[in-house]
Amino acid sequence: MSEKVLVTYATKMGATAGIAAAVGSELRAAGLQVDVRELSAVQAVTPYDAVVLGSAIYQGNWLPEAVRFLRRHERLLRSRRVWLFHSGPVGVISHQDQPVPPDVARLARLIAAPPIKTFAGNLQPDAVVHHPDLERLTTDSRDWPEIRAWSHEIAASLPATAGN
Ligand SMILES: Cc1cc2nc3c(=O)[nH]c(=O)nc-3n(C[C@H](O)[C@H](O)[C@H](O)COP(=O)(O)O)c2cc1C
Repeated sequence: MSEKVLVTYATKMGATAGIAAAVGSELRAAGLQVDVRELSAVQAVTPYDAVVLGSAIYQGNWLPEAVRFLRRHERLLRSRRVWLFHSGPVGVISHQDQPVPPDVARLARLIAAPPIKTFAGNLQPDAVVHHPDLERLTTDSRDWPEIRAWSHEIAASLPATAGN
């Protein structure tokens, strides 16, 4: 039986959804059973052996629903393999690891998650309507090869894919 993996995400403008979909495709291609769901569509965590959770970063914070999810499911997540990522930086800083907000860092420690992965984001023109200072940064910096490589690391550490 292959491991059942939940890939879930919090997004405002869709960039993080795209990253989660790419992670899901890679894990599926590695032979895992994968559900990719926006956080609001996750009914239960119990059926899953492993969870990959990502949030967009806004003003240095994760989206509130992602923090709430970690808090609500903290005890259960302690007994699951968990990987966390956040999506944010664009342009020249797109490959800089972003600081992990303290509330997220605390929860990540409690569930013994490995270091949180930063992925470059996609800043769309619609997102900066009220932030003209960010306008010059609008670009899709998402690094698909890096996303695939990280997904392969996850797949390689889940038992069901060991023989693939
Ligand atoms: C108002 C605003 C604030 C942002 N703040 C940050 C930030 O603090 N750190 C960061 O890395 N990216 C920041 N970003 C960039 C977004 O995180 C990036 O565009 C991300 O990929 C959006 O994800 P989403 O489309 O899933 O919502 C900000 C974008 C906007 C529009």
